[in-house]
Amino acid sequence: MILSDHYIADEPYYRPVGDEITLFEAAYAMRLPVMLKGPTGCGKTRFIEHMAWKLNKPIVTVACHEDMTASDLVGRFLLDANGTIWHDGPLCLAVRHGAICYLDEIVEARQDTTVVIHPLTDERRILPLEKKGELVRAHAGFHLVISYNPGYQSILKDLKESTKQRFCAIEFGYPEAEVEAEIVAHEAGIGPDAAALLVTIGERSRNLRGHGLAEGASTRMLIHAGQLLKHGIQLEAACRIALILPITDDTDLRGALCAAVAACV
Ligand SMILES: Nc1ncnc2c1ncn2[C@@H]1O[C@H](COP(=O)(O)OP(=O)(O)OP(=O)(O)O)[C@@H](O)[C@H]1O
Ligand SMILES: [Mg+2]
Repeated sequence: MILSDHYIADEPYYRPVGDEITLFEAAYAMRLPVMLKGPTGCGKTRFIEHMAWKLNKPIVTVACHEDMTASDLVGRFLLDANGTIWHDGPLCLAVRHGAICYLDEIVEARQDTTVVIHPLTDERRILPLEKKGELVRAHAGFHLVISYNPGYQSILKDLKESTKQRFCAIEFGYPEAEVEAEIVAHEAGIGPDAAALLVTIGERSRNLRGHGLAEGASTRMLIHAGQLLKHGIQLEAACRIALILPITDDTDLRGALCAAVAACV
């Protein structure tokens, strides 16, 4: 079966934080394109993997980048011994075979690339393959999902208004402390007390956001620190290498973060 290796066999662990599962299921039922919005490392990718598993759908993920062209998404003619043959790109595969297409970090793509999704995201649900002279009608199961980190964009790097307005958005953030500790404990394989401590440290670093830090430590970073603890590294060292050094080069901020850790030990 085409796309058979795009099914997720085992349930990805996902701890719901609010009503995001219900909202996504409703948007999927109506095939409304969905934008997952939220800071780095807060569970967007894990969520979509969980939903693909839950809905028993294949998922095609594309990591968007600046040099990506419309052909990279849609497909192109390639030369082989028998001449030129058409190869569907990842978006086209998802459209033909009814998969979820997850365009990760969509703002990284140039706007002239992003517009290829427009005819797919209104009631037409078509993908024109201009080079091939074919109009692909989306399979009934096709669903488009994009991720978007708000706040990191410059004016030069943002979605066009006409792209944004085609999507419903589900907002993600770092969960409340108890829930985040549950996630960190599960993912790092550490006890609840150690996880709660890491979450407290994470919250302190988030309080420095806007005071020189672009973002505080994400759930992903707290899990990294937890994994180091699990491996036998002491708390202060684990926090230094997993939570502090990666996010700032500023000596004063590093000092403030180390002090926050020391205060929690
Ligand atoms: N609600 C959650 N349930 C389970 N795991 C979670 C949850 N939130 C975060 N995680 C954990 O945090 C890690 C980072 O999350 P994920 O990779 O989904 O972040 P993201 O929002 O896609 O970040 P980015 O924008 O950088 O791609 C996951 O691998 C998972 O271990
Ligand atoms: Mg992600």
